[in-house]
Amino acid sequence: MKPEKQETKVTITVCVGSSCHVKGAREMVDRFSDLLNEEAFQDRAELKGSFCMEHCAEGINWKIDDEIVSSTSVEEAVATLRRKVLGSLG
Ligand code: FES
Repeated sequence: MKPEKQETKVTITVCVGSSCHVKGAREMVDRFSDLLNEEAFQDRAELKGSFCMEHCAEGINWKIDDEIVSSTSVEEAVATLRRKVLGSLG
């Protein structure tokens, strides 16, 4: 009997604390959600929100599984999501 193929599932967690919110975290959640839906990755990537990740000064903060990513803008975050997450899932 063949072992079942395990699909990679990635958890994307966006900080929705007040500092990240002011810098565009809400828009980032919407863009991430649209992108995952467009690319049909919604079953393989879970999108969640979190309270302050205690990296407020470093940008808009989010995580790919346990790795913290600090983005300077929503556009940069979207580019990073494409490169690091969609690239590895695709
Ligand atoms: S509010 Fe996002 S890291 Fe603090």
